[in-house]
Amino acid sequence: MSRLWEKGLPLDARVLRYTAGEDHLLDARLVPYDVRGSIAHAEMLAATNLISDEDCTAICDGLKALEQSFENGDWHISLEDEDVHTALESRLTGNIGSAGGRLHLGRSRNDQVLTALRLYLRDTALDLAKRVTGLRASIADLANRQGDVEIPGYTHMQHAMPSSVDLWCGGFDEGFADAVAGLEAVHKRINKNPLGSAAGYGTPGLPLDRELTTAKLEFDTTQSPVTAAQLSRGKAESALLFEIALMMQDLSRMASDLLMFYTQEFAYISLAPEVTTGSSIMPQKRNPDVLELLRASSATTQACLDEALMITAKLPSGYHRDLQRLKAPVFRSIDLAVDSVDIMAYVLEGLAFLPDNISLDEGIFATAEAYRLVTEEGIPFREAYRKIAERYAK
Ligand code: ARG
Repeated sequence: MSRLWEKGLPLDARVLRYTAGEDHLLDARLVPYDVRGSIAHAEMLAATNLISDEDCTAICDGLKALEQSFENGDWHISLEDEDVHTALESRLTGNIGSAGGRLHLGRSRNDQVLTALRLYLRDTALDLAKRVTGLRASIADLANRQGDVEIPGYTHMQHAMPSSVDLWCGGFDEGFADAVAGLEAVHKRINKNPLGSAAGYGTPGLPLDRELTTAKLEFDTTQSPVTAAQLSRGKAESALLFEIALMMQDLSRMASDLLMFYTQEFAYISLAPEVTTGSSIMPQKRNPDVLELLRASSATTQACLDEALMITAKLPSGYHRDLQRLKAPVFRSIDLAVDSVDIMAYVLEGLAFLPDNISLDEGIFATAEAYRLVTEEGIPFREAYRKIAERYAK
């Protein structure tokens, strides 16, 4: 397949390999979104009489057929295609002839990739929010099953005050509720139409109807002025990656607690046999590898956020190929978050606290004792504190 910008000059194979990079692989997930964006663009071109209705029908049918055949595994994006946009347009033109060559009027791959990414990120934010809601349901189930079980509340990893499974679950649940709200806010931020900004400076002399593609693609607003579009690439991504990073910290801290609870010394919990793994040498082992990998995953998602932020920091305005490098950390973080949320929900389903192994030492009630002296005997808190502290002086 030839590149869209081919002008008959030779292209160094090494340069193609370096500039296309992983794009031909990473772009696979963008196929349905690029098709959707292209169909909206073609319909807008027809509505503004920039292409004929017949050409529009041929383009839309041709794109839908390509989406279907891609899904069936009949073709893939190759390195020579460079990216999803080229792969689709060149195959479309191969299949339907010159009508395919009319599709790129009034757009550039710069707004095209932004549009496809927006549509993808929009779906992803809501899909992830749904999965986090599923995790919250697993937490609620655990709290329903065993909420009454008392466990120590720790500060400095020392018994501090009495807590319970209900309280432990509730704290994390609140964090995940925030994550759902954050993902919904990100969805709102993402939901602006960049299509029609073309290379970044609009389409002088061409009467495009950007509001029409905004409506067709169900964006809330049209991104305007056109110069805002390329400035926003990376910001939408980083906003999502930030929400993911916060959510993954909660997930990682939950895993960290559970790893401690699962040691032989604590033995506060049991895990379903199917979520533990074995050792190649020690026959007795049931290892909580899933939880360890969950604990480590927050490092990866945080690094992805850093990577995304750093790619755009200090870039001049307008389009730069640097922006292509956002895809790897963005997809990596999203995929890891999706898998992590789902696997934690699965772990919690088979997890049980073991009340017989959990004891609260007497000291853990000391603060409550001091409070009792205050409320029942009316003595100042500092005095009550000293009185109780005498018991623990040695
Ligand atoms: N793969 C490119 C990206 O992700 C598509 C846009 C290419 N645009 C260009 N002017 N070379 O940014």
